[in-house]
Amino acid sequence: MGKRKRNKGERRSENNDRPGRHPPHLRGKQIGLFYAQKSKEKKIQHLKRPLGAILLSTTKKQQIQAVLNSTSFKNLFVVDDGSYEHVKDSHFKRDFMRVISETIDEKLTKTPVIISDDSRLDATYYEEFVAKQQNQRYMNMLEKRKKLPAHELKNEILKVLEENQVLVISGETGCGKTTQVPQFILDDFLEKQKGSGCRILCTQPRRISAISVAQRVADERAENLGQSVGYHIRMERRLPRDRASVCFCTTGVVLKMMESDPSLSTVSHLILDEIHERDVMSDFILALIKKIRSIRTDLKIILMSATLNSEKFSRYYDNSPHINIPGFTYPVKEFYLEDVLFRTKFVYEEKRIKQQKIAEYSRFIEPHVRQLERTNQYSREVCIQLRSPLCEEINIELIFTLLVDICQKEQDDGAILVFLTGFGEISSLTRMLQESGQFPSHKYLIFPLHSLMPTIEQKQIFEVPPRGTRKIIIATNIAETSITIDDVVYVIDCGKIKVTGFNVKTNTDILAPEWVSLANANQRRGRAGRVKPGVCFHLFSKARNMVLEKYQLPEILRTRLEGVILTAKVLQLGDISTFFQQLIDSPEPDAVSLALDLLKRLNALTGDEKLTPLGYHLAKLPMAPQMGKMILFGAIFSCLDPILSVAATLDYKDPFQLPVGKEKEANLMKLELSDGIKSDHLLFHEALKGFERCGNNSRQFCWRYFLSYHTLKQLQDMKKQFMEYLHEMNFVPNSDPKSPECNRNSQNLSLIKAIICAGLYPNIAISKVLGKKPVWTPTMQKLNIHPKSILAECRYFDTNILVYYRKVYSNSDYIHDCSLIHPLPVIFFGDNFQGMYEEGRHMITINENLKFVCTESTTSIIKELRDRFNWFLEYKISHPGPVIWGKENETRVLDVIMELITCEDLEVYDDDTFDDYD
Ligand code: CDP
Ligand code: MG
Repeated sequence: MGKRKRNKGERRSENNDRPGRHPPHLRGKQIGLFYAQKSKEKKIQHLKRPLGAILLSTTKKQQIQAVLNSTSFKNLFVVDDGSYEHVKDSHFKRDFMRVISETIDEKLTKTPVIISDDSRLDATYYEEFVAKQQNQRYMNMLEKRKKLPAHELKNEILKVLEENQVLVISGETGCGKTTQVPQFILDDFLEKQKGSGCRILCTQPRRISAISVAQRVADERAENLGQSVGYHIRMERRLPRDRASVCFCTTGVVLKMMESDPSLSTVSHLILDEIHERDVMSDFILALIKKIRSIRTDLKIILMSATLNSEKFSRYYDNSPHINIPGFTYPVKEFYLEDVLFRTKFVYEEKRIKQQKIAEYSRFIEPHVRQLERTNQYSREVCIQLRSPLCEEINIELIFTLLVDICQKEQDDGAILVFLTGFGEISSLTRMLQESGQFPSHKYLIFPLHSLMPTIEQKQIFEVPPRGTRKIIIATNIAETSITIDDVVYVIDCGKIKVTGFNVKTNTDILAPEWVSLANANQRRGRAGRVKPGVCFHLFSKARNMVLEKYQLPEILRTRLEGVILTAKVLQLGDISTFFQQLIDSPEPDAVSLALDLLKRLNALTGDEKLTPLGYHLAKLPMAPQMGKMILFGAIFSCLDPILSVAATLDYKDPFQLPVGKEKEANLMKLELSDGIKSDHLLFHEALKGFERCGNNSRQFCWRYFLSYHTLKQLQDMKKQFMEYLHEMNFVPNSDPKSPECNRNSQNLSLIKAIICAGLYPNIAISKVLGKKPVWTPTMQKLNIHPKSILAECRYFDTNILVYYRKVYSNSDYIHDCSLIHPLPVIFFGDNFQGMYEEGRHMITINENLKFVCTESTTSIIKELRDRFNWFLEYKISHPGPVIWGKENETRVLDVIMELITCEDLEVYDDDTFDDYD
């Protein structure tokens, strides 16, 4: 049915009652609103049309029925009162029942404290400690350590800690909190011949800082990692000895430990470091430790933060004592954008900017520029430049020019530290410096510093270079507090910071560079004055500086909460809202209910917020719940290797790079690799497959396809790690991602897409017109496909359903990754299945919004198959064990389902339902 067009002769009716016209009493703006509303309703109507038709032949239906009849299944859907009596006894069941029936408070009263002193060990450790005092390397290091401000307060710290359970320590970055405080405590125990009673755990918000700090402390003790110092992060560990030791770990690792041992019974001192960063995990652990402190009265808790806002933590812990380590930073001279422009005579390249943006910006900047003009301090050119909003964007050329200028004018060798927001900027500035010929390697050491850069390079960054050589470090925020480079004299602060955020109303992620807070800007400035007076260039105007926020918003107030909620559930923290209220800042109720809603839809939580068996597994798996579900399905359907690749990539990061200036070439290579498959997810799989297959030549493979070797390596490690979890839970017979038992169906790309859909559901987008963009969420939110997706350029989609994981707002809503999906996977894996009769047709609806035309008998057979599958799934999830294909009856049902969800030409679209609509 096309849109009905008016015939030439047909006159528009003058009658106001004509359907569709606005009521005659409306005036002016109201008329506009009336039509806007109507247009919206029409769009909704349109989206509510069926997305396709499902036709099954009579023979097919008979075949399915035969399978259903010949396999037995106990009806598991009998009302379950939460006792899980139908689940057979197993290791899983015991643990699961414990998790859902106990609370952390009950558990805490039961855990025994098992650190006991061991005088034999004490003596050994003491001798070792005494011997150290003769060790030249140790003594040299000690000399340096004694110069750190923290050293002055060593005795006071130990004394206050002796008398109190909780101590807050604050101090300028670099004053020696992280490296010295754990050693003060350890050495004190060793000296008093009580070493065996000391086991210090020190958390770091980032993996990279846990490793680098552990290495540094081991060096200071003239030891190797693994003796008294070690680290433990998600994918790597070099644990120290059990007693008389310090272990630097991530917050995530401590939370994992607390799952089985909530009172941390083997730990004597818990140091929570860098808590001022206010990342979700730090806040979470702060609240949790507050809970266990009354039970573990012997556990010493040390909270360490940069100077910012440290009273807040002391208050949170009932006004616990607070020691501030005074810093010894030298004065740092500050310059702002106007000074930089004046100094460098830099001119921005012309660019078109929206008029509205210019107007808004003018209102903001004009008073400031006029003031500058009055004082005559700056040139006319500077004022002209400042008047353009362009000057508030990060400009790599400007930074380059400033670097050249500093290197020419400043005669000393002082290191320069540049703060940028992300990987892309860091690599383009690095490349620009290297390729310019103005920074030859015998005179300049250039270090890009990003959490994804290989760890080996790091030690060099801290070393003082030979005379006549200048270090230039180009870093993210990581160099603000967690990594200290002493000899920095010049800081260039781009003024921005990349923050992840998320809009509760539209359920969209936001990852955008934002203005730094004053606290960040001060912190960055401070990095320049550690060895002598320094200079800091802020690349924003003084006007901008006046309006910066005091502090960055804590992460818990701007992030998705599904993961945190699941963690809280396995930690048996009870009612979520109650727990969230105990946090130092509580997230918005809307964000909490959005997360709870998703977890319920994933069937990870029951209606009354109890963990389900699926939720239990998802909480244990170290990845976002949607990815966890995907790999469990991958295990059941025996297509794990590709699914692990997709899940790891979505959970971590896209390995494709977009090198500056070579975007087109990179995109072409992406298309070559995709080989016509219209799915970013399958492309991730292809990338990892190629990488793993190339073995020794994998670097070449990466180079050819513009892939990040480092990211792929990490993804490969993550796959192995996920596999170990699956193996531990007994879902797979071994922990090799490539084992044939786990990859029986890994060649079946349609199946893999269907499993991706099972995991990512409910992230579905539909196109109103078959194969045309933009696409829409079922609730009418317009989505664009991000240019980096291989579907962005694709002109023809052969289905009108997409699944995606990441929806990010930059200047409008974009989906970053997507796959085209046929209806049957959605019908099988979606929630809220209903058969209904509407407008003279039988239909299947999924979650009310997604409709598919279908005959009554097909609807009922699909429903029966779906129920059977859900039964099987529930059974498998609560009785973990590998699926044995071909042997058990159960796999015959899986076979039928597999055949249906992968048969992509089964559906016939009724073209009439997709007439043009604008
Ligand atoms: O934790 P805080 O910021 O107070 O300081 P820290 O990380 O303990 O650093 C104290 C000093 O140790 C720094 O000033 C650096 O000189 C040195 N350090 C290092 O050389 N290598 C590291 N990986 C960490 C610190
Ligand atoms: Mg530190």
